[in-house]
Amino acid sequence: MAIATINKQAEQPDIEQRIEDLLGQMTLAEKIGQMNQVESGGEHAIDHLRHSIQAGHVGSVLNQADVDIVNELQRIAVHESRLGIPLLVGRDVIHGFKTVMPIPLGQAASWNPDLVRECASVAAREAAKSGVNWTFAPMIDITRDPRWGRIAESLGEDAYLASELGVAMVRGFQGDDLGCAGSIVACAKHFAGYGAAESGRDYATTNIPENELRNVHLRPFEAAVDAGANTLMTSFSDLDGVPATANDFLLRQVLREEWGFDGFVVSDWDSVRQLAIHGLTEDDAASALAAASAGCDMEMAGGAYLHHLPRLVEEGHIDEALIDKSVANILRVKFRLGSFEHPYTDPSHLPGFGDEQALGMARQAALQSVVLLKNDHAALPLSAERLTSIAVIGPMADAPYEQLGTWIFDGDMQLSVTPLQALQDMLGGKVDVRYVPAMDTTRSRQSDAFDEAAAIAGDSDVAVMFLGEESILSGEAHSRADINLPGDQAELVRRVRAAGKPVIAVIMAGRPLTLSNIVDQVDAILFAWHPGSMGGPAIADLLFGIESPSGKLPVTFPRMVGQIPIYYNQKNTGKPPSPETIIHIDDIDPKASQTSHGLTAFHLDAGYTPLFAFGHGLSYARFEYQNLRTNASEIRPGDTLQVSAELTNTGEVPAEEVAQLYVRDLVGNVTRPVKELKGFKRLRLDPGQTIVVEFSLHTDELAFYDRNMQLVTEPGEFHAWIGGSSETGLRTEFRIVDSD
Ligand code: NOJ
Repeated sequence: MAIATINKQAEQPDIEQRIEDLLGQMTLAEKIGQMNQVESGGEHAIDHLRHSIQAGHVGSVLNQADVDIVNELQRIAVHESRLGIPLLVGRDVIHGFKTVMPIPLGQAASWNPDLVRECASVAAREAAKSGVNWTFAPMIDITRDPRWGRIAESLGEDAYLASELGVAMVRGFQGDDLGCAGSIVACAKHFAGYGAAESGRDYATTNIPENELRNVHLRPFEAAVDAGANTLMTSFSDLDGVPATANDFLLRQVLREEWGFDGFVVSDWDSVRQLAIHGLTEDDAASALAAASAGCDMEMAGGAYLHHLPRLVEEGHIDEALIDKSVANILRVKFRLGSFEHPYTDPSHLPGFGDEQALGMARQAALQSVVLLKNDHAALPLSAERLTSIAVIGPMADAPYEQLGTWIFDGDMQLSVTPLQALQDMLGGKVDVRYVPAMDTTRSRQSDAFDEAAAIAGDSDVAVMFLGEESILSGEAHSRADINLPGDQAELVRRVRAAGKPVIAVIMAGRPLTLSNIVDQVDAILFAWHPGSMGGPAIADLLFGIESPSGKLPVTFPRMVGQIPIYYNQKNTGKPPSPETIIHIDDIDPKASQTSHGLTAFHLDAGYTPLFAFGHGLSYARFEYQNLRTNASEIRPGDTLQVSAELTNTGEVPAEEVAQLYVRDLVGNVTRPVKELKGFKRLRLDPGQTIVVEFSLHTDELAFYDRNMQLVTEPGEFHAWIGGSSETGLRTEFRIVDSD
């Protein structure tokens, strides 16, 4: 499956002319004003910003979502500034606006670009109703580190999956026509490398070799640019010694020269002035010079551009032509948005907040994002007919705010339906629902209520435990070094387990957790991420088999934190581990020599496999793959190979499966990953139904950056797999041969 690209919006011919005309009328101060984004000042925005907008010193405001205030700010810009240039109104609309969808990492677990696009489209129209015309999403940083709090906001560890879903988000936000009511400008962030923060500590240094940068981290950004993302945000982080906000290699060479990007780049919050804190520049003036020269078109907060660029231009440190380019990039997006023609928002032109369609989407997204990690002895689904009582235990069972997750500035908690509410609604008087939160927060160390929880579990037919992390434990600057269930939750599980009844864990969290200490204590685990407004009904439907779980992991779950980074598309190494070549620390013979333990790449205490692999996710149905084949054993550069397999639902219920295509390039000019995702399809199958799943694989999709940073497709041997996770066993082979 190719990453679908569209030509960047075919420029309306007059836009470039209009930019030129406008630029010709602008003073240097007005130009630099367009490069300045300011915090709105909340309810005092109008007084706070009136004079600077009138003076043409503001190109964009952020964090204002009161439509009346936004309209007044626009009116001041249009009618009271000399040139009448409307404002961009930016906001972090990350996974919904009033209606909250699952966190992006949860949406990624749906492996469903259509659904992700719809979620973004609902978020866009709700945000647009408030006057917001620019979101700072999607975040398409690749991360292999679940300690990093912002993994919640990411689309996971894989460049292909993040590209497909990032493109879907861009299209959802921007719509088919950016000029239509309900479309808002997307911002692909954080360019680039942020997800590789050392030890998963937010804002920490990143060091990424150029080859890995190009083969992994830059790919989703290139896809987003090709799909028409109009803006990019720089990363806070330092990339190989040059912070991204002043990184001309990224911002000029890659983004403009290689990819032909014609939108604009915004810094992250105050990241221009932070160049001095990084130690790249001496002061704010030098920071403004470094960032603007590198190609950071707009400064978010900080004011260094506004204060220092005029003098830097006048003294000849930076050419005004460079300023003109940045301003043209910004104006281009404003023209594309149609904001000169329609600067105001009429909320009555858009549907209401949290309407049926929005809540329906939120429910569908939550349903498809939940991953069934384990299900011993078919503990799930539960049957309302066979149960008389159910114990609902845990701090996340009835936490309407916490289930929304990180980045929900505008999220309406009143729209949340919790699992407890949904179970009570669903089971009515038929099944006795007994609820004990047992802990005030997920971090609590108070175990006073554990006896009561165990007693109620013992007295019920089944215990369903709602565990995880509250929303504050993930997101920006909320990294964790220990990613076990926080507080005394593992002890609560142990106590409930001891009551002797089946235990189902439903975990809501902003990241993969290390679950080794509870995995054997529970019969089934539904991993629900932070599922958003409609998490409750979706989870209730899954618990009771109204729908079968169909989410698949977009990120690897380690056994222990010390395994990080652990990801599926690793390199083979010269000493790959295998079950035969590893030993566990407890089995070491004290008399054995150092070399008798197997000289391969593993941990003595954790082995080399994850707890749950990328792509993993169980179902109430059973899916079997057979007859994997290709339509040719040899292809030439430029050819498209068809790879197919038969997929059968051998279970008893209809269900959806995400079929995944992986490829390995056996020999390369640089070493290649042991597996790489190259396609996926979400399919619904009735019991007994067989479908042929076919993927088209063009040789361009097998291209990679070699040691000279050239994108090449090399002749040679490849392996291909189709299956239900990255651990799938069905494999075939093919070769690319030279054209001559
Ligand atoms: C800082 C975050 O890194 C960025 O992602 C966000 O969009 C801005 N703040 C604006 O809130």
